[in-house]
Amino acid sequence: MYDYLTFALPKGRLGDSAIQRFEWIGWASSIEKDSRKLIFVDEQRRLRFMFVKPVDVITYVENGVADLGIIGKDSILEEEADVYELLDLGFGQCKFSIAGYPGNVLHQKDTVLKIATKYPKVTQNYFQKRNQPIEIIKLNGSVELAPLVGLSDVIVDIVETGSTLKANGLVILEDMIDISAKLIANRVSYRFKYDRIKGLIDQLELKEEVL
Ligand code: PRP
Repeated sequence: MYDYLTFALPKGRLGDSAIQRFEWIGWASSIEKDSRKLIFVDEQRRLRFMFVKPVDVITYVENGVADLGIIGKDSILEEEADVYELLDLGFGQCKFSIAGYPGNVLHQKDTVLKIATKYPKVTQNYFQKRNQPIEIIKLNGSVELAPLVGLSDVIVDIVETGSTLKANGLVILEDMIDISAKLIANRVSYRFKYDRIKGLIDQLELKEEVL
């Protein structure tokens, strides 16, 4: 009998798209959408699906409690995750951008740029590469507010449709990194459950080609 293949999936919009991918390949029969249950088990196919906060997906996969996970590249970069990135799933597309008021200057001699962000590591790494001193103000949400009230000069955040920026009178000053949803694997699981994981990747890729 197979060992279980266990997934950590993000609750919310990204998770809904992930479930859709499992529906496409006929693996989602155990998942009850709109349920408050956090774990679903498919005994027949030996699958387990855990639904966790998006920021926690990597923790479950790194620790091996989950063999596989689906999560945005933004979290992988911010967590500096020690996992294998197996497949781009083609949804959850957005980008990291620097945003601020139109005409905001990013480089000004002898001034330290103040940046509000939910992503301090991504921000630090990006500006370190170009040797620019910055001060990071870590926020947990509603980052667009920071420049409006003088908490920061600019923000580093995810931009998807651009409507949050627009609604707050801000614009993209510089695009940084493209983001999309990835299938990730625990390093040990990948070795020991290679055949089943490879089978999953093949099925997902095949569906992607057909659609
Ligand atoms: C995210 C992100 C931006 C917004 C971008 O925030 O941090 O604020 O979505 O999307 P848009 O370009 O389509 O407007 P989220 O909705 O997660 O809320 P938060 O600010 O509370 O983190």
